[in-house]
Amino acid sequence: MRVLVINGPNLNLLGVREPEIYGDNTLEDCINEVKKALPGIEVDDFQSNSEHEIIDRIQQARGNTQALIINAGAFTHYSYAIRDALSMYEDIKIEIHLSNPHAREEFRHTSVISPVVDGVIAGFKKDSYTLAGVAISRLLNK
Ligand code: DQA
Repeated sequence: MRVLVINGPNLNLLGVREPEIYGDNTLEDCINEVKKALPGIEVDDFQSNSEHEIIDRIQQARGNTQALIINAGAFTHYSYAIRDALSMYEDIKIEIHLSNPHAREEFRHTSVISPVVDGVIAGFKKDSYTLAGVAISRLLNK
C-alpha cells in the first residue's frame, strides 16, 4: 500500500507563511500527521512550485499508488491541466486545504479540481492533513 501527498506552490514555506491563515506548523509537521494516521502504509510526499512537475508526479502515481492527497495551493483555482491529470488518476483522491477558501477572497471560492476528486477537506489547518489520512485509512479498509 502506498499513499502520495502532493503539495503545490508556496506550501514549502508553511510555518512562516501567513501563520494566522495557515497555522504555524511546517509542511513536514503536516506530512507527519498523514503518516501517523496511516500506520503500516508507505507515505510518499512531493512538493513543487511548478505546475508541470505536479502533473508529472500525478501521472507517475497512476497504477502504483492507492490514494492521493493533494493541496494544489493556488493552482486549485485555475489549473485545468492539474484537473485533467487528476481525472486520469483512477484511485482514491482527496483535495485538502489548510484554510477554508470559501471564507476568503472570491477567487478562492472556485476549485477546478473538486469535481474530479472523491472528497474535499478544508479549514482545519494541520488537521486537514490528519483528517485526510483518517479518510484514506477508512476507504482502504472498506
Ligand atoms: C490553500 C488555499 C489556496 O487558496 C492558497 O492559494 C494556498 C493554500 C490552503 O491550503 O488553504 O496556497 O490551498
